[in-house]
Amino acid sequence: MITCSAPGKIYLFGEHAVVYGHSAICCAIDLRTRVQAAKHDSFIIGSVLGTTGLDLEVHPYVSKVIEMMQDYKRIEGVRIRIESELPVGSGLGSSAAVTVATIQALNQLYACGLQLEDVAGMAHSIEREVQGNASPTDTYVSTMGGVMLVPERRKLKGLDCQIVIGNTGKFSSTKELVSNVAKLRQEFPEIIDTILGDIGKMAHIAEEHVNRKDYGTIGKLMNVNQGLLDAIGVGGAELSELVYAARNAGAISSKITGAGGGGCIVALAGREDADEVFRAIKNTGAQAILTRNTHEGVRMEP
Ligand code: PMV
Repeated sequence: MITCSAPGKIYLFGEHAVVYGHSAICCAIDLRTRVQAAKHDSFIIGSVLGTTGLDLEVHPYVSKVIEMMQDYKRIEGVRIRIESELPVGSGLGSSAAVTVATIQALNQLYACGLQLEDVAGMAHSIEREVQGNASPTDTYVSTMGGVMLVPERRKLKGLDCQIVIGNTGKFSSTKELVSNVAKLRQEFPEIIDTILGDIGKMAHIAEEHVNRKDYGTIGKLMNVNQGLLDAIGVGGAELSELVYAARNAGAISSKITGAGGGGCIVALAGREDADEVFRAIKNTGAQAILTRNTHEGVRMEP
């Protein structure tokens, strides 16, 4: 039996802009999805969603992984058990984490010889197949860990500060929000293109500050990025409430992470302020999660 785990992620900068080829900075977080895989005489996939066989409705990512791994080794049956610390469908990369961890678990169990780049590539093609469209960011960061400038794929220094996540619990459809931004861009091309370009520039400016661990400057830029996300229409009252609750409680910065509309915000905080930020988010009635950056991408568990 093999157990592998892979982390979720938050965006420090650049969601939506990355869809148009601009840069983004993405950070793996220490909330992981664990996948246990054992050889078996039939296919069994178990998670909080239930226990199924190969099932593209209930377990589309894992079922697709098993299907695709058949190109490397004949798999007659396998028992998969999934456990996750990541809230599902809230912009924290839960689907990328389960896909990456499952590929690596089967890669190890059947000695397929896939390298990390292959794992990331296969995970991206599965996300694209299941979701219709997906950028390679989530799957790449979940595989490699750390902090990454994408699409350049440059690894930056790790973040030492606390990361506090606020989850509105409101469903957010990445597809719908990406399409809303596209419509707004069609209507006001000069304005929206300038904003998206500015978000990308911010990721580039921030690269150096991340590497110097200058959290004050990173924070200022993240707050500007938040304003621009609001400007392109992916904010909302629930998200803004969490953004300002975090800032008022002493966060270095706070912004939407991921597609927006609903889903999560991310706040950076110093060690002494993190608990206060956590409480402030919780007091709004939202789910608060305290975590950190992890340099570890997909890994084998003991
Ligand atoms: O909400 P998430 O984690 O699916 O992130 C979406 C990020 C976008 O830039 C809006 C879309 C993408 O595919 O990069």
